[in-house]
Amino acid sequence: MDSPRSHERPTAFDRMLAPVHRWIWRNAERRVQKLLRFGATETDGGRDILRAAEVTSDPLLRRLYLEHAIDEFRHGVLFRRRAAALLSVSPSRSNPSFQGDWLAPGGHGLDDLQADGESDDAMLAFLHLSEKAAASRFTVYRDVMQHDPPTRAIFEEILHDETFHMNYTLTQLARVAPRRHRRHLWRARLSRLWKGYLRLATALAGILGSIILTIQYFIMLPPFAWLAKRAERREHAGWTPVSPERNGSLDRQY
Ligand SMILES: [Fe+2]
Ligand SMILES: [Fe+2]
Repeated sequence: MDSPRSHERPTAFDRMLAPVHRWIWRNAERRVQKLLRFGATETDGGRDILRAAEVTSDPLLRRLYLEHAIDEFRHGVLFRRRAAALLSVSPSRSNPSFQGDWLAPGGHGLDDLQADGESDDAMLAFLHLSEKAAASRFTVYRDVMQHDPPTRAIFEEILHDETFHMNYTLTQLARVAPRRHRRHLWRARLSRLWKGYLRLATALAGILGSIILTIQYFIMLPPFAWLAKRAERREHAGWTPVSPERNGSLDRQY
């Protein structure tokens, strides 16, 4: 059974990808882009949690959601300010093509959050798993950020809040659904798994599409180019006389 923890250990998957994360975050321009995107994700998540505070009928949850939303807005500001500070030191020259977003996503997965129409228990289960994932990833991001102490300090500070979010959502889930909270957690896990699969499938489809289009360009286009050139050689240069049957006076539109 999940139980509240004072800190989150990164998952084996996130630990395994630590070298990839280190490589992604090492590039200064990529770091700026990622911090900006993280800032947007945190702010959007905060907005959705604010909506959850509006729709819940539970007064304690409303207060906790409000505090949670304020935290997420603050995280957004922290990420954006750090990105601005990095930009002022070394202005971005171009957008690096590879951001590795499906390997190093914006923390929560809160972008999937739909506050309207969700029950409190389903919302808490979703939030708990999202915050747990964020705490796991932010632990790895903090650990691979030795080369950038100010950014590392931001991850450290945010990680503290994400651990609180992870714990309070689990405690509240056990309060509002004492008998069914495990079922809600499993349902939320399956939903996240399905969305993760869709994200991966979309990324793979993009890669496969690029490969197939490149192959088509180099294999299917040359014969058409060759046929066009051959047809061009058969054409007479300059003006060609029109046959007398087609050369009547223009007395109709077509
Ligand atoms: Fe956050
Ligand atoms: Fe959070």
